[in-house]
Amino acid sequence: MAGTRGFGIDVGGSGIKGCVVDLDAGQLDGERIRIDTPDPSTPELVAGVVREIVAGFGWTGPVGVTLPAVIKRGTALTAANIDKSWIGTDATSTFTRKLGRPPGDVVVLNDADAAGLAEIRYGWPGDQAGVVVLLTFGTGIGSALFLDGKLVPNTEFGHLEVDGEDAETRAAASVKDELGLSYEEWAHRVSRYIRVLEDLIWPDLIIAGGGVSKKADKWLPLLDVRTRVVAAELRNDAGIVGAAVAAAEGAGN
Ligand code: BGC
Repeated sequence: MAGTRGFGIDVGGSGIKGCVVDLDAGQLDGERIRIDTPDPSTPELVAGVVREIVAGFGWTGPVGVTLPAVIKRGTALTAANIDKSWIGTDATSTFTRKLGRPPGDVVVLNDADAAGLAEIRYGWPGDQAGVVVLLTFGTGIGSALFLDGKLVPNTEFGHLEVDGEDAETRAAASVKDELGLSYEEWAHRVSRYIRVLEDLIWPDLIIAGGGVSKKADKWLPLLDVRTRVVAAELRNDAGIVGAAVAAAEGAGN
């Protein structure tokens, strides 16, 4: 018997990816569609791509959409790696209008928060007690904070100041690539970052996500931190799955 279905779209700086999601299994139901992020990545153009992806599946139910942005009551208040015209834009209304949906059918949330929702539910379901943080290491560093499985949205821990600098400019996965750092060198930076974070919030568990979590065995063992750090289970699909979960539950913020 087919399980409960949802739909999620993950908007990133380079690609916009969406798929039907099997909400019982916590995984994609079929092949996802990926379309290059339009340039400029304005609300109007991004919403057009979102519509194209939803139409590609003939999906008519609730839709969850992630943005690399702080989202409060559906409005983007920051914009990382997407056009700055998102700032102040009512993202929920923009997508709802473009998709021709009734109010309440579309939920928009921060990309790392979405990934966290998916990971904590399907990736590490037995480890929800206490303070759990998902960190996504990609172009920037995203974060999702949970207390006993409940999301505290928009934490933005990637922008903690570490040794006088914005943490993600030193420890994002993109920095490893740009500077050609070895795993040892990069893990040293990530450790420094996590030590600052753990001195502030004393997490019980850190889940490391983002594309670089595929190679977790190369760098997680090199970390020198107090907290248990595990690799994200859902990898690149976490944003799509988490967006679908948020939409199915009407859990926008
Ligand atoms: C942004 C966050 C986002 C993260 C990952 C950061 O630069 O401030 O909102 O979650 O990148 O995309």
